[in-house]
Amino acid sequence: MKLENKVALVTGAARGIGKAIAKALAAEGAVVIVNYNGSAQRAAETVKEIEEAGGKTLAIRCNVADFTACKDMIDGIIKEQGRLDILVNNAGITRDGLLMKMSEEDFDSVMDTNLKGAFNCIRHAARQMIKQKSGRIISISSVSGVLGNAGQVNYSASKAGIIGLTKATAREVASRGITVNAIAPGFITTDMTEVLSEAVKTSVTETIPMKKFGKPEDIAQTALFLASEEAAYITGQVICVDGGMAM
Ligand code: NAI
Repeated sequence: MKLENKVALVTGAARGIGKAIAKALAAEGAVVIVNYNGSAQRAAETVKEIEEAGGKTLAIRCNVADFTACKDMIDGIIKEQGRLDILVNNAGITRDGLLMKMSEEDFDSVMDTNLKGAFNCIRHAARQMIKQKSGRIISISSVSGVLGNAGQVNYSASKAGIIGLTKATAREVASRGITVNAIAPGFITTDMTEVLSEAVKTSVTETIPMKKFGKPEDIAQTALFLASEEAAYITGQVICVDGGMAM
């Protein structure tokens, strides 16, 4: 198996893309920590599914927007597991609205979870990875961060921020055996996109060259590749997994 003896933390892994990534990493032998903030029940379901498939996993509640809580979570993982090899910053939220109607609170909450949440986890995980002289950091950006998306100035800014965070961190830690990359998904069928009206889904589909939404597993396989030995010489990159949207 590709990730035998590796320890991975996936944020926001109780459902959707994070859950698919957690399952893919566990299927290759990694011990996977399923981070969640809201639903303990859905996190427990993810843990159960991974265990039933023969994987090793546990769930930890932590709000990634909280710097100190992220330190406690990551320190606890290192204390219990002895190491941390893979960090996947997946937790994210949307609070969509047009610029002229967007509240300060909606801007701040999206930045706090999506961008600062990734910084918080990278900041604490990198210390251990530098000690180990190895590590993989993968953050989930979005085509909205690459292209910009009307109605999502907060979300697009947070996801573009992830790209800058990824590239700057990659430069800082490249000589320490740590790779840092981002994945920019297009439209993926999850709870996040389920809230879109049928009319919006139809008009969005028209803008996708492949004329269909992607699946969480499409993102999970890319994350698995970036976490694997095969991707050892790839760092500072943004891989669009989007049916051709952002070309
Ligand atoms: P989702 O809403 O199903 O999952 C997001 C997860 O993050 C949830 O389990 C949620 O509880 C968790 N989360 C939210 N705030 C958190 C916090 N403060 N601390 C810890 N966990 C928190 O959404 P989906 O679609 O699975 O999205 C996963 C990631 O992929 C997000 O970063 C999203 O922005 C990104 N993405 C999704 C796309 C899509 O079309 N579904 C497209 C591009 C990017």
